[in-house]
Amino acid sequence: MKIIITKNAQEMGKEGAKIFAEQIRSKPDSVLGLATGSTPIPCYQELARMHKEENLDFSKITTFNLDEYIGISESDANSYHYFMNNELFQHINVDLKNIHIPDGNAEDIDLFAKQYDEWIQFAGGIDIQLLGIGENGHIGFNEPAEELMTGTGRVQLAQSTINANARFFDIDEEVPKEAITMGMKTIMDAKKIVIMASGVKKHDVVKRLAGKEFLSTKMPVSLLFLHSDCTLIVDEAAYNG
Ligand code: F6R
Repeated sequence: MKIIITKNAQEMGKEGAKIFAEQIRSKPDSVLGLATGSTPIPCYQELARMHKEENLDFSKITTFNLDEYIGISESDANSYHYFMNNELFQHINVDLKNIHIPDGNAEDIDLFAKQYDEWIQFAGGIDIQLLGIGENGHIGFNEPAEELMTGTGRVQLAQSTINANARFFDIDEEVPKEAITMGMKTIMDAKKIVIMASGVKKHDVVKRLAGKEFLSTKMPVSLLFLHSDCTLIVDEAAYNG
């Protein structure tokens, strides 16, 4: 795993965007795996700027998002659909019919999840996947556990993740307890992975990753040590604490 340390979250986003822009310029019909949460926002801002000022062209791009809460409608301001439109899609020239985000309201979540992996394969696989890291080491919503899911599927969120997400909801009862997420194999099958972390809250997990290589299902992010093209971009606060 290659590690890049940047001054702050804004610079972290720029480094990530640079790698995405290279990918898009070298293969204009790339398949991008995308993430939500606070971490990718500076990267999406930089990609939007590159589109506006440097003609970075997203017209042939296909996207697949990592995850979505179960039981939240697309129009809900806390849905990942809403987030992606707001933070990225409405600022670039991506063709909306090429966008895929797991449907947390699907009638049959298990069937939908199976189809999601098939759609990714049909699109030729993910060329580059963007990831954030949970404070507990989750990626997507693959929470620390004895066993991890391979393909996309339904998961119960860890209490620590529910607590971390509570900041976005008015009342605790509204915080989703379940999600649909790409599984570990879906993520690991991406040809290239860019994972980012910023802020002191991510220091403990970043410190473990920057130490010696290890594998533990209790820290799902550690499985990225098995990936041959994975870049971790962290800001000084996450790196130094
Ligand atoms: C989001 C996702 C999660 C987040 C992680 C960090 O699509 O899959 O794994 O990347 O929870 O969240 P933030 O960036 O808000 O700290």
